[in-house]
Amino acid sequence: MELSVDLGRNLKLKNPVLLASGTCGYGLEFENFYPLSKIGGICTKGLSYKPIEGNPTPRIVETSCGMINSIGLQNIGAKAFVEEKLPLLAKKDTKIIVNIFGYSLEEYIKVVEFLSEYQEIDGFEVNISCPNVKKGGIQFGTNPKLTKTLVSKLRKTTEKHLMIKLSPNVTDITEFAKVCEGEGADSISLINTLLGMAVNIETKKFSIKRKMGGFSGPAIKPVALRMVYQCVKAVKIPVIGIGGISNYKDALEFLLIGAKAIQIGTANFFNPSCGKEIVEGISNFLQNKGIENINQWIGSIEDE
Ligand SMILES: Cc1cc2nc3c(=O)[nH]c(=O)nc-3n(C[C@H](O)[C@H](O)[C@H](O)COP(=O)(O)O)c2cc1C
Repeated sequence: MELSVDLGRNLKLKNPVLLASGTCGYGLEFENFYPLSKIGGICTKGLSYKPIEGNPTPRIVETSCGMINSIGLQNIGAKAFVEEKLPLLAKKDTKIIVNIFGYSLEEYIKVVEFLSEYQEIDGFEVNISCPNVKKGGIQFGTNPKLTKTLVSKLRKTTEKHLMIKLSPNVTDITEFAKVCEGEGADSISLINTLLGMAVNIETKKFSIKRKMGGFSGPAIKPVALRMVYQCVKAVKIPVIGIGGISNYKDALEFLLIGAKAIQIGTANFFNPSCGKEIVEGISNFLQNKGIENINQWIGSIEDE
């Protein structure tokens, strides 16, 4: 069974299953559940050049079929990452995609420039879509002109694989996908969280301190599937599907409509073994269907 997929520019995954940024820490935590070598790769927690403490608590709330978070991009910073986490991660025989962000154009460039020196890093996923910070983040992902400038500058900054993570909080996501392709991005990943809110009728308070946060989990899957499909149609670069994927059937749906790989996010919180289970589930499904190579499944939806 051939499960490998090629995302371009030296990023070939042994299978199309990645763990989504912010839902798997720096990856090492998952070794308690299964060896990371089972999956295609991990997208690390978003890194900025300097460490960030994140937003005040409460910053996570469960909803009927998903969660809302407002972590505020808490992270240990790029320097601590390469010293404390990267040497251990690099031994794991899986691809390391470092998710990065900045509060300004200069900060995005600084972190990519710094991390590009490290051979162990296989590629970058650039978060232009975080709804949980006061400034920066989302403004790059909701203004096509800023997206264009950012991607063009980052392309000149690194030779490594450049995956741009898009925000669903826009009117036409394909406009952003096309801008990324035009400026030399190697792939795009989508979707990041949708802007959501939850309130508590007993305490009469907002459930999370910053009132609004990023909504993720099973409830967002149909929205994600629709946007991934639209982007697959709009660009030629690989599209990585994210949003509400909890089992192998969800993953197969995204691949069927043309996603070249998928990421598992919120599901890691309620089933930390689901990365491994999804790889096994995909493999068994294809075997039962007599499909020898996953690339025969990818994009094979009957699309009149
Ligand atoms: C607690 C939490 C933290 C997240 N942190 C990040 C982050 O640092 N960078 C990023 O690009 N996306 C982040 N995300 C978004 C996820 O990577 C993913 O795009 C989103 O949750 C949708 O997928 P899902 O429905 O499978 O969770 C975070 C999501 C959650 C739930």
